[in-house]
Amino acid sequence: MTTTGTVLIVDDEAKILNALAQALRVDGHEVVATGSPRGAQRLLAQRMFDVLVVDNLMPDLTGLDLIRELSSATAPPDRPQIVMMTAHATVESAIEAMKLGAFDYLQKPFEIDELLVTVNRALDLQRLRTEHRYLISERDAEFNHYGLVGRSRRMQEVIRTAEVVARSKSTVLITGETGTGKEMVARVIHYHSAQREMPLIKVNCAAIPETLLESELFGHVRGAFTGATGAKKGKFALADGGTIFLDEIGTMSPALQAKLLRVLQEREFEPLGSERTQKVDVRVIAATNRDLRQMVSDGRFQEDLYYRLDVIPVHIPALRERPEDIPVLVEHFIAKHAQRAGKRIDGLEAGVLETLQASDWPGNVRELENTVERAVVLSPTATIPADVIRILGASASPPAGLPSLSLRQNLDWAERETVRRALESAGGVKKDAAEVMGISQRALSYYLAKHRVE
Ligand SMILES: Nc1ncnc2c1ncn2[C@@H]1O[C@H](COP(=O)(O)OP(=O)(O)OP(=O)(O)O)[C@@H](O)[C@H]1O
Ligand SMILES: [Mg+2]
Repeated sequence: MTTTGTVLIVDDEAKILNALAQALRVDGHEVVATGSPRGAQRLLAQRMFDVLVVDNLMPDLTGLDLIRELSSATAPPDRPQIVMMTAHATVESAIEAMKLGAFDYLQKPFEIDELLVTVNRALDLQRLRTEHRYLISERDAEFNHYGLVGRSRRMQEVIRTAEVVARSKSTVLITGETGTGKEMVARVIHYHSAQREMPLIKVNCAAIPETLLESELFGHVRGAFTGATGAKKGKFALADGGTIFLDEIGTMSPALQAKLLRVLQEREFEPLGSERTQKVDVRVIAATNRDLRQMVSDGRFQEDLYYRLDVIPVHIPALRERPEDIPVLVEHFIAKHAQRAGKRIDGLEAGVLETLQASDWPGNVRELENTVERAVVLSPTATIPADVIRILGASASPPAGLPSLSLRQNLDWAERETVRRALESAGGVKKDAAEVMGISQRALSYYLAKHRVE
């Protein structure tokens, strides 16, 4: 069985070139023949070939030069398989070509059949490479659910649990260190559920002062407290029919814990200052980076509430416990941020991934994402060099003294980080973030849009 494909053949001796090209065409291949190595360079930059058959000794540029250039830029299947022809008994250059990744070499003079067989074998390999690439991308798509990336056994379990509980309306308690992806998992659950068209309402219990949290959750009537000039719907009412995500549940005061327990038990509550009981049909997803069980034994978290919340526990392991997720996460974040920054980034310099995998990541996936994003923005080349990757820990600040960077890039980075952090510390409330930064809300909106911060 023969495989056919596209072949580029380069030889400065016209007679040989034509004879070989003709034989390859008869064998069923699509052949482009050129006597000029410079012409070959141009063709290779313009289009894809499956196989390159190239003579070594030519004026201008040797076959070896061409091979060296090709193999430094790409590997199959992104570049053709290479077959080198060598006229003289210069086996050294043939070996050099093989070292550079050429598929095979033919020593002139050779039988035409020898060439046909070699080209066929090269095409078979090229096809396998392409299929392999396709299978890998299929597999990677399977490891990416709603942007939730992870191939470790433990992340696969988290994803599977999330998908299963999505089909119920049970309460879910998500635990894990900061930056492990608790909020992402909450989203996956909501958007896989039958209520996906209904609202997903997030409340960050730690970002709202205790005195305001109650009215934030349950709403209030006019005159319920000083300053309550109008009635306001609470988050539970807003989430009716959908999901409420109670983030940082471990910071909730004992008084509010009791009120929350009642909602979970009775599915009803009263807005502040109201005597009318309101019914709600809401799925509750709570998250915390604290050890709630320990808090229960210390008397800081109500036991009943804990059991009401911990119906379906989902624990997300720290990143350092699953370093096998780092390569897929890095690839995912490179693609995401290269696209946002409008840059072409192919990957990391050799060895960098190992450094990333060996790191501790106290800030977990968020820290890894910040590190990759910064490297993508700052990298002067398509392959991110090792010295652009700085693992700065949770206190990430603009990298100092990277000579290849413009001041402009550093400033851009600092500006974006400042805005992003202010917004994060304000729990996503723009008004508060603007206040923290001492700028107007309009100015904040401008920076958010400029840096595409969500
Ligand atoms: N498995 C993952 N795949 C892709 N991105 C992830 C994953 N886990 C986390 N992230 C990214 O990491 C960042 C932090 O995730 P998230 O906000 O969900 O963490 P968290 O556990 O809620 O953190 P915190 O406790 O600090 O609130 C987000 O930008 C998210 O996109
Ligand atoms: Mg969170």
